[in-house]
Amino acid sequence: MGGSGLVVRELSVGYGPVRALRRVSLQVPEGSVVTVLGSNGAGKSTLLRAISRTLSFHGGTVTEGEVRLDDRRLDGLAPDRVVAAGVSHVPEGRQVFSRMTVADNLRAGSLGGCRAGRPKALARVHELFPVLAERAQQRAGLLSGGEQQMLAVARALMAVPKVLLLDEPSLGLAPLMAQRIADTVREINEQGTSVLLVEQNAALALRLATRAYVLEVGEVTLSGPAAELAASDEVRRRYLGVVYEDAAADADQVVGRTLTPWKG
Ligand SMILES: Nc1ncnc2c1ncn2[C@@H]1O[C@H](COP(=O)(O)OP(=O)(O)OP(=O)(O)O)[C@@H](O)[C@H]1O
Ligand SMILES: [Mg+2]
Repeated sequence: MGGSGLVVRELSVGYGPVRALRRVSLQVPEGSVVTVLGSNGAGKSTLLRAISRTLSFHGGTVTEGEVRLDDRRLDGLAPDRVVAAGVSHVPEGRQVFSRMTVADNLRAGSLGGCRAGRPKALARVHELFPVLAERAQQRAGLLSGGEQQMLAVARALMAVPKVLLLDEPSLGLAPLMAQRIADTVREINEQGTSVLLVEQNAALALRLATRAYVLEVGEVTLSGPAAELAASDEVRRRYLGVVYEDAAADADQVVGRTLTPWKG
């Protein structure tokens, strides 16, 4: 055993009487990128909150199941202990501290981490996101949406995580900026950090990930190698926006979006 990565087993979550996750199991093997696809309300953010133990801030509770990182139980830990154990969460909606400077946002991300490691962590994020070095003394709220997303990711990286949980990092960004974020996620992964990526942009997510899970109304309904899911009719129709059945002819292309004229 040991070195098995992040393992979620039979996890169920409720917000009061609302059951948001039902016996969800998944794995993020060490060094991999795994994606979770699902429609609005499927439970994607809930899953990440349950792993990072931030569920209680949203009024939710884990009712059964377990979460482990390399055979260490994470469920039961306080959120800051989960970070210390090596799991950092970039929540939905890039919640940077908008009145604080970029530098202070990054400093906040390294709180609780090892002090001696900070200069190295800062050098790494400045290399990944040079704009954050240039804007170090600017208030975070003045950054563009894409730059704020970079800051949110960078802040999480300041804790030097083994696993990064990313909740819809490309949401609301122009295609070029979304692609930049995707490139950075790949680079972060190549530097040795595992990534659990939740994305609305299924095409982008399936290109980045090695494995994918589909979540529907709180349950995993499909999982497998990302390339296989990208080629499956159901995923293509429901998450890649492929309109025609015969579009499966170009199944080697992940982005198979077919535009049809809107008739009023
Ligand atoms: N704080 C909350 N209190 C009560 N119910 C909630 C809360 N947050 C989420 N839910 C419910 O739990 C279910 C899963 O929500 P969740 O936000 O995890 O979905 P999601 O897949 O992240 O959706 P989206 O794509 O819109 O971000 C939904 O039915 C939602 O209404
Ligand atoms: Mg969400």
